[in-house]
Amino acid sequence: MPPDIAHYEGREQAYVKHRFLAHYIESLVFKIASRRDVVYVDGFSGPWEDRGERFEDTSFGIALQALRKAKETWAGMGRGQRTMTALLVEKNADAHARLQEIIPRYPDIRIRTFNADFVSVVPDLVAAIPADAFAFVLMDPKGWKIDMEALAPLLRHPNSEVVFNFMFTMINWAASMPSPAIQASLEALMPSTDWKVRLDAIRVFPGETKADARKRVLVSSINSAIARIGSYPYVMETPVLFPDKERTYYSLIYATRSTKGVEVFRDCQEAALKTQDRVRADLRSAKRAEATGTMDLFAPVAEKNDFAARWTTEQEAAARRAIVDAVPLSPNSIAYGELWPRILAEHGVRKVRLGRMVAEMKATGELTFLDWGQRKQVPDDGYRLTR
Ligand SMILES: C[S@@+](CC[C@H](N)C(=O)[O-])C[C@H]1O[C@@H](n2cnc3c(N)ncnc32)[C@H](O)[C@@H]1O
Repeated sequence: MPPDIAHYEGREQAYVKHRFLAHYIESLVFKIASRRDVVYVDGFSGPWEDRGERFEDTSFGIALQALRKAKETWAGMGRGQRTMTALLVEKNADAHARLQEIIPRYPDIRIRTFNADFVSVVPDLVAAIPADAFAFVLMDPKGWKIDMEALAPLLRHPNSEVVFNFMFTMINWAASMPSPAIQASLEALMPSTDWKVRLDAIRVFPGETKADARKRVLVSSINSAIARIGSYPYVMETPVLFPDKERTYYSLIYATRSTKGVEVFRDCQEAALKTQDRVRADLRSAKRAEATGTMDLFAPVAEKNDFAARWTTEQEAAARRAIVDAVPLSPNSIAYGELWPRILAEHGVRKVRLGRMVAEMKATGELTFLDWGQRKQVPDDGYRLTR
């Protein structure tokens, strides 16, 4: 069950975030649970600003539903019982007390809650994750005060993925503050990344705003800190906009070691961006109707919101350039199976679309495939490319 927009009035950005999480966690858990037990770790679980009656508009409520669904599906297919666990950390005592209400609703899932600061319970969380289980870690803090190095034992769990959702505007604001305490906490978030030097020497590229350029530096710094500390080869971001402005509200960062994870992330990202356009268009229509006092039947068309289309076009253009850079000149070559995860990790393109793009580039002579089966529309991983 996707989250219900009715619970998100005035915080539509959280709806987009939760739609993405629901879609992603369902795909991920379903895939993983065929082979492994799953542990969901929510480092900043809330509840926070929830309006549903059963926590269905909270990250942990959404994750627990996905865990239950995967467990039932696999058991129904005769694949045996998987153990599903949720480790929920919440610092605020009142929110933590409310968190207890979820436990009797999910007797089929082992739930442990921690009334603590997330970083301080990392050793307990690590001890609670079986060595061969798959761990999905969600970090969705309000601020930015996370000591990334202290998370290393958790992020390095061999079978794991991480989603880190941060409020871009807040970190961007903090990064412009001279306060030594704020600067030190940002250094703890992005250790050894030269984020400050790079921000101070920022170059704004043609077509970019200054905020875009700052975002490029901050997101890539957080990405590289997670990549290094957790040993993740693929770290990607999807933007979630303010409901009524063309500016980033959240940056949702995703880290994985699996090429399948990269593929699924880009599929979920496209769906989330389309959902976001719809929500923003509906909101603008509703505001206009309220202002004029009439229902505007044509508003969804008139208020067309096409961020997803524009963003995708930009991403595809950048991906094309990156493909040309990554494919070596003849007689050298690269296997498509090596190329596509690298391109998808950097650029917001779905795998099916990338397959068609390289087929188009083959047709125009920009790329040469040394192997291409008859009647094939898109390449196999083993096909070699050269220029
Ligand atoms: C943005 S809210 C989380 C929302 C939730 N992930 C969702 O989507 O439904 C952040 C939560 O983290 C809690 N929190 C703040 N600092 C914390 C810390 N150091 N450790 C654990 N929880 C913390 C806050 O009380 C708040 O409930």
